[in-house]
Amino acid sequence: GKVAVLFGGTSAEREVSLKSGQAVLDALLGAGVDAHAFDPANAELTELVAAKFQRVLIMLHGRGGEDGTLQGALQQLGIPYTGSGVLGSALCMDKVRSKWIWQALGLPTAEYQVVDKSSFNADLCGDILSRLGGIVMVKPANEGSSIGMAKVSTATELQEAVTQAFQFDHQVLLERFITGQEFTVSLLGDNTLPSIRMQTPRTFYDYEAKYQSDTTQYFCPSGLDGQRETQLGELARQAFAALGGSGWGRVDFMQDKDGQFYLLEANTVPGMTQKSLVPMAAKQAGMSFTELALEVLATSEV
Ligand code: DAL
Ligand code: MG
Repeated sequence: GKVAVLFGGTSAEREVSLKSGQAVLDALLGAGVDAHAFDPANAELTELVAAKFQRVLIMLHGRGGEDGTLQGALQQLGIPYTGSGVLGSALCMDKVRSKWIWQALGLPTAEYQVVDKSSFNADLCGDILSRLGGIVMVKPANEGSSIGMAKVSTATELQEAVTQAFQFDHQVLLERFITGQEFTVSLLGDNTLPSIRMQTPRTFYDYEAKYQSDTTQYFCPSGLDGQRETQLGELARQAFAALGGSGWGRVDFMQDKDGQFYLLEANTVPGMTQKSLVPMAAKQAGMSFTELALEVLATSEV
């Protein structure tokens, strides 16, 4: 049947989505799928019904595409879509609620504090900083690709970073920085793909390190021994399922110097650009980008 690949959109991650979506569209076309580009920034979703699309492949990142609202609209329109449903999408987009659920289930995640725009008191920055170990990651609750994020180690920096982050979201997550190594695990249907370790000379794995820099190093296989690899994969599955995620996704972690893993966040529409992580893990598992795109197309809750 006819497939619409949704990409572009209006979120802060539009540029990333344009790259992810084009790559996936090209792969599907190359595989003989009757696939068409559809950018919700320029068209009404009801046009999907009028044009008789039988399935939607969601390649929109961030709010309005990855956060459950689009999923709900497509459900109401009766069009099957790829990846997680409404609840899983909404919870994975929200880093604060993700942590609440993981904590309630005893899954490991770093200490944190939540601040709200309406009640934020800058005088508390010094206290927050010391309570969270002196180095803090500042994250808008609902964003992707490290947009609006900062790593800070003084009260003044914290205050500035929180003010910046409030431009993206009224709720901001302050998280103890875990000194160690960063890992990610990609999930595809019932398969757990090989973990990847990311290393950057920058202060952290930010937007530039993700999409622009040549200095980011990726290790896949990641160097974990078999037992650790299995443990991390299991943790990724549990964490994703706990938030209601399904179909495909990617779960990000830090590992401290003692080898303990900490959950950072889960992504329901991970990047599929040339530099992105899921295609890298798929390749390590012997799967081409086209095979990956076809597998993603096949994922669907409804
Ligand atoms: N939010 C970006 C697209 C990612 O997780 O890959
Ligand atoms: Mg993310």
